[in-house]
Amino acid sequence: MDRQIAFPGDPGFASFYPGSVVMVSAVDAAGKADICTVGAWALVNGAPRLFGIAMCTTTHGASYWKRYTTTCIDETGEFVINIPDLSLRDAWMACGSVSLVREPEADKFALSGLTPAVAAVVNAPLIAECPVSIECRVHSRLALPTHDWIVGEPVAVHTADRVASGDLTLTWENAPALSES
Ligand SMILES: Cc1cc2nc3c(=O)[nH]c(=O)nc-3n(C[C@H](O)[C@H](O)[C@H](O)COP(=O)(O)O)c2cc1C
Repeated sequence: MDRQIAFPGDPGFASFYPGSVVMVSAVDAAGKADICTVGAWALVNGAPRLFGIAMCTTTHGASYWKRYTTTCIDETGEFVINIPDLSLRDAWMACGSVSLVREPEADKFALSGLTPAVAAVVNAPLIAECPVSIECRVHSRLALPTHDWIVGEPVAVHTADRVASGDLTLTWENAPALSES
């Protein structure tokens, strides 16, 4: 079998796409809401169900700095994993392109055209347009060089009627694809 092999530091070494994306919403201690697009996430445990999100904590090169959403999670111990459908691509790209670290006055909901909704348990807002929202409290955390793997335990799950009725099925085919651009 023909293969290429790359080592750390080689061009292309770090490309492990495609994946799917979620939008993580959280609030800081003062109640300011933020949304961070996250491509590195997964269901990581069965009983109880636990979800992991990789949140940048460290400045490294041009792409890595501590996300303001990470600060929100640090301050409150809560976050919401909002699963978008493909129609929300512009919104997740907007939330993934603007950081409250660099633009502290920005309103991520307003600039992305998304609507905050009151959660059932946590103080962080849901994103109303997302067909699934999973309210989480921090269960545990693994510190890695640039990102922390933050494990959340769901305390409430919201599922849109169009998912429950079968009109929208969240399969790989209609999952939000994460491209390298
Ligand atoms: C498609 C996409 C996927 C991303 N995945 C992650 C990720 O897994 N973890 C992370 O920390 N940042 C990720 N980012 C970057 C953040 O979303 C981005 O830096 C955002 O502006 C942070 O906003 P905040 O500082 O207000 O929280 C991603 C961005 C995009 C566009």
